[in-house]
Amino acid sequence: MIQSSAIGIFDSGLGGLTVFAAVKERMPNENIIYLGDTARVPYGDKSPETVLRFGYENAQFMIEKNVKLIIIACNTVSSLAICGIRQYFTENNIKIPIIGVLEAGVEAVVQQNIANLAVIGTRATINSNAYRCELRKKANSISVRTIACPLFALIAEEGLGNHKIANLAIDIYLQELRTNPPDALLLGCTHYPLLIDALQKYLPENVKIIDSAHAVANLAEKYMSEHNLNNPITENGKEAFYVTDSPEIFAAQAEKFLGRALQNVQKTVIDNAGL
Ligand code: DGL
Repeated sequence: MIQSSAIGIFDSGLGGLTVFAAVKERMPNENIIYLGDTARVPYGDKSPETVLRFGYENAQFMIEKNVKLIIIACNTVSSLAICGIRQYFTENNIKIPIIGVLEAGVEAVVQQNIANLAVIGTRATINSNAYRCELRKKANSISVRTIACPLFALIAEEGLGNHKIANLAIDIYLQELRTNPPDALLLGCTHYPLLIDALQKYLPENVKIIDSAHAVANLAEKYMSEHNLNNPITENGKEAFYVTDSPEIFAAQAEKFLGRALQNVQKTVIDNAGL
């Protein structure tokens, strides 16, 4: 694997930029290729078969870009498709390592000694039970509540995370967390950090919010050091963004979120990957 090749990060849309930002902050010298499948967002209300197909196609895009590591910055794909994608890579002797946000989020929870956890995510993620299963394997004693919040990703995608519509949606899904608060809330969707201020205001102050974007950046950094994948070049890494729908719309929303303009946003086609 070439150390100067890029890290590939993909998501259904804007949400994975929370992971992009965290990776960029931790490893500013790394080259990054970001793919947002904006033509087909949201993934969270699709069937498992469709999520698996989208996941394969996004992974195929990253194989073609010769990335040295793939970060699946989408909990929905991490929950429903990561095993299938890894199996495909093994069967076809593709040596690119894959890290998913779900495993990173679970790792972050395990390290923090939490007794009572609530996990929020898309409907597909919550229905898959992947968080429950993974947490049961790693920290059997944690009591886990899971809640699907299907409107949150759309609110984030529209740049309305700080609008009153976000407060209304939060109240629809999370009332029970106010009356019976957990120790921590795990954001099991990479779009949800875009609603973090509203979530923080809504929940009692002592509820800790765990964001899997930072957790996955930590895990990626650790993996890359252990496997000698770090880019030896110390200057700032290059970045390229690919989307499957309008680059202009993505660039405008991304600028609001990242607080800076993106230079290199291109449209791409990723269907019919033939996997
Ligand atoms: N950001 C994604 C996730 O973490 C997907 C949201 C969606 O497309 O529904 O699950």
